[in-house]
Amino acid sequence: MMGLSALVPAVARATGLPVIAAGGVCGAAQAAGLAVAGASGFVLGTALVGTEESRAPGAHRWCAVHGVGSDTVTTRLFSGRTERVYRTGLVEAVEHLEDRTAPWPGPEALFAPLFRAAAAAGRDELLVFRVGQSAGRSAFAKVEDAVRTVTSWIPGE
Ligand SMILES: Cc1cc2nc3c(=O)[nH]c(=O)nc-3n(C[C@H](O)[C@H](O)[C@H](O)COP(=O)(O)O)c2cc1C
Repeated sequence: MMGLSALVPAVARATGLPVIAAGGVCGAAQAAGLAVAGASGFVLGTALVGTEESRAPGAHRWCAVHGVGSDTVTTRLFSGRTERVYRTGLVEAVEHLEDRTAPWPGPEALFAPLFRAAAAAGRDELLVFRVGQSAGRSAFAKVEDAVRTVTSWIPGE
């Protein structure tokens, strides 16, 4: 749960290996700073959810493009592994069960029928949306726009 700006240089120094930074990366200045701090590459997740190429449903796109990073939570509820999701009504309804969550992949099997039926019925409010702390700052039209923007201030790119 350490912030990337502290984590990247610490991991780079400790391992001497190339470091790929993931989590909340969506801007040029941010990526350039992480590159200077020791990141050799980046993973973009949330930044791609609202793009033309994304197959995410409308409500998921909304979370990525118009949501707020502070409205996300980390939880093991839906997969058994810690992941960051948007705090929707579904999450609020079940978050009291966090301590009783089975290990991965139990919860995935448990929720799969609900998510399949919800998707088929267009009931977005019954889906879970994986969205990171860059929610609300990830409005890119196309994947190439996101990649070009994020890498644009990195020396040598
Ligand atoms: C829609 C979506 C689905 C994801 N699914 C998985 C997954 O199944 N397994 C996994 O390890 N990470 C998954 N991730 C996490 C990404 O691989 C990546 O680490 C993360 O999105 C980077 O943080 P960011 O979203 O803040 O850019 C997912 C992310 C998003 C946005």
